[in-house]
Amino acid sequence: MINFEFYNPTRIIFGKDAILKLGRELSRYGNKVLVITGGGSAKRSGLLDHALRILKENNKQVWILDGIKPNPRLDSVYEGIKMCKTRQVELILAIGGGSVIDAAKAIAVGAATQHDIWDFYLRKLSVTKALPLGCMLTLAATGTEMNGNSVVTKWETREKNFISGSALFPKFSILDPTYTLTVPRDQTANGCVDMMVHVFEQYFSHTTDTPLQDRLCEGLMKTIIENALILAADPQDYTVRANILWCGTMALNELVGMGKKQDWATHIIEHELSAEYDIAHGAGLAILSPNWMAYVYKENKALFRQFAERVWDIQGNGKSEEEIILEGIRKTREFFVSIGAPATLEDAGIDESKISLMAARAVRFGPVGSMKKLGKEDVETILRNALV
Ligand code: NZQ
Ligand code: ZN
Repeated sequence: MINFEFYNPTRIIFGKDAILKLGRELSRYGNKVLVITGGGSAKRSGLLDHALRILKENNKQVWILDGIKPNPRLDSVYEGIKMCKTRQVELILAIGGGSVIDAAKAIAVGAATQHDIWDFYLRKLSVTKALPLGCMLTLAATGTEMNGNSVVTKWETREKNFISGSALFPKFSILDPTYTLTVPRDQTANGCVDMMVHVFEQYFSHTTDTPLQDRLCEGLMKTIIENALILAADPQDYTVRANILWCGTMALNELVGMGKKQDWATHIIEHELSAEYDIAHGAGLAILSPNWMAYVYKENKALFRQFAERVWDIQGNGKSEEEIILEGIRKTREFFVSIGAPATLEDAGIDESKISLMAARAVRFGPVGSMKKLGKEDVETILRNALV
């Protein structure tokens, strides 16, 4: 295991009617609040209006920035920063999925600096401060509700970049599974794939002697698989929604990967797909991650065998190590497809025309991944293998 520091200051308020604790949280911050939300789902479910009523009861002065798009855009971030600065906003409240929360994080950083927010995403500057942020999450997927990351797209140049930092952790996140009951089948599947791949990025590693981290990851993966399969058949089951919501948070609140060298190549490559084609992040991951596995497993066969045996319960029965590993990869792909995620670039309507361009962009900050360091040609091969 390698040395690590674990810090996670986000207060999680989880369960039915968790929103009733919003007033208590609001009392800890100033009076001027910017509410940030997406394209309408929080309005339709009644969550936005409920939150606005509570803000009013607590005598808050409120402004709303709505219309944050999936794969959130830099333009909306600039708009939010301007609102915060002209109104001297003291708290940002994000109501929605990962895109809304990531945009809110960018706005929180941008409002606390004189620098151009995009310079942080270009890695020219490090994040040191941000306005306080509270979240009300409506989609189980990214883990952004309890981590220090934000991903934003500059649409004109198709650059999808991320920032990380302690200042980016939300102060509190309200997670009521009830508000995820309306998530449609495809977004539910995309979210389950995303959390599963977050675990892959931390689990598949050259760091050895991490039995607790391995078992935590395997427990998460098995729980995601079991619950995602039930949800695909019955999206209205509150208990299953609750379990999957907590899995999403645990998969990327930075706990299960502590002490391990992590990979993240699949995510970096996927960000090029969703930046170029505006597809859902989880859909891109479902296409790429089995192809990434097939490309890198020879770097650590023992771990890929452990994954096949412990997560997919594949029995040896005279099979070679190679056969066991490949069966594990095949089961991963079949699982994604069975819950409604795409398997190939063709399924997502993507052809080979921009593969070379996307591969070049994926390595613009240098080679990606740590299981196997991937340069442009490697990325290009993985993308080509994902075509059909
Ligand atoms: O905009 P609205 O109307 O809210 O609709 C959204 C959106 O169309 C809808 N939705 C959300 N909650 C709903 C709902 N529809 C019905 N009922 C509800 N309760 O779902 C659609 C997708 O929402 P979005 O927020 O884009 O999805 P997700 O949470 O998967 O976020 C994806 C973004 O997060 C980034 C991705 O790259 C992508 O930009 N990621 C952020 C990470 C982080 N900050 O740690 C890590 C991830 O790996 C990821 O990269
Ligand atoms: Zn992800």
